[in-house]
Amino acid sequence: MSNPSLLILPGDGIGPEVMAEVRRVIDWFGDKRGLKFDVSEDLVGGCAYDAHGTPLTDETMAKAQEADAVLLGAVGGPKYDVLDFSVKPERGLLRLRKEMDLYANLRPAQCFDALADFSSLKKDVVAGLDIVIVRELTSGIYFGEPRGIIEEGNERVGINTQRYTESEIDRVARSAFELAMRRNKKLCSMEKANVMESGILWREVVTEVGKEYPEVELSHMYADAGAMQLCRWPKQFDVIVTDNLFGDLLSDAAAMLTGSLGMLPSASLGAPMTNGRPKALYEPVHGSAPDIAGQGKANPIACILSFAMALRYSFDKGDEATRLEQAIEKVLADGYRTADLLGEEGKQPVSTSEMGTAILEALDAGL
Ligand code: IPM
Ligand code: MG
Repeated sequence: MSNPSLLILPGDGIGPEVMAEVRRVIDWFGDKRGLKFDVSEDLVGGCAYDAHGTPLTDETMAKAQEADAVLLGAVGGPKYDVLDFSVKPERGLLRLRKEMDLYANLRPAQCFDALADFSSLKKDVVAGLDIVIVRELTSGIYFGEPRGIIEEGNERVGINTQRYTESEIDRVARSAFELAMRRNKKLCSMEKANVMESGILWREVVTEVGKEYPEVELSHMYADAGAMQLCRWPKQFDVIVTDNLFGDLLSDAAAMLTGSLGMLPSASLGAPMTNGRPKALYEPVHGSAPDIAGQGKANPIACILSFAMALRYSFDKGDEATRLEQAIEKVLADGYRTADLLGEEGKQPVSTSEMGTAILEALDAGL
């Protein structure tokens, strides 16, 4: 039987640096745990535009459709701000999400004990935090038509459309309920049914799906109140399900609860392929951080944790994912910190590759 295939798209900015550490981790699992992958690498984002004049070529798109899982670094950078909207680096990422139909975006926010002091919130608010935001990723205002900038009278009008069909809400709600069943059986759905019809429909459909999951305690919150509650007492939540735009905002807020955006992985999942694996793309929640790119300062943990999610959700290797997560926990407990995790203390940070080496050593130690 051939090895499962992994398509790696390091992208721009710090993407290539953090992905280099992921590749060492992938190699470790191949050498030490017999988990071999057929790894191929390609371009996405600004680097793809530089090489081909488009942020994602049709060939790369086709490879992504074929791969058992896609691992992406980050896209974008100030150099590309001047580009036409249609070829901006982000369009490459959005095309992958849309054409692979990756409708369920899982964004865990987990506070590692060693970092509880580091959050901008009080330690008792965040210590032990372990929640997941399920963000709808292929519809809503990101993709709704009509959209554009049009002339109206003597001025221009910017238009985007929030639009959700029942089936789009239904399928992401199911993903969230299934996840809640595997966790603490609590799901909070967030929308703005007080001002948006799409929010009214969202609430109705989620409630309907919830009848099939009587064990899950379902609650609803307006997304603005949800943002407030996330900062006030985030441990009240287990799984949160929300739309594309609210999910974008709420997941950045949740990320900060854990201390650093450099820590958070994500999985974007679609329908099962013929081999039973879901279509899947794994990426850190952080961006391309052009200000620190190429300096060896970036934290590779979010990207490495994204590979752990791939082990769990695409390759059914939950034990190996846990092994990797525990190695990361150990490294943090031992005091290894990249620059983003140092705060004001003025200690000497470890570099991207030193963090990678420490994680490999912890994996070795755990053999
Ligand atoms: C994210 C990012 C993306 C988004 C950008 C890069 C298009 O912010 O994944 O959260 O808005 O979805
Ligand atoms: Mg975002």
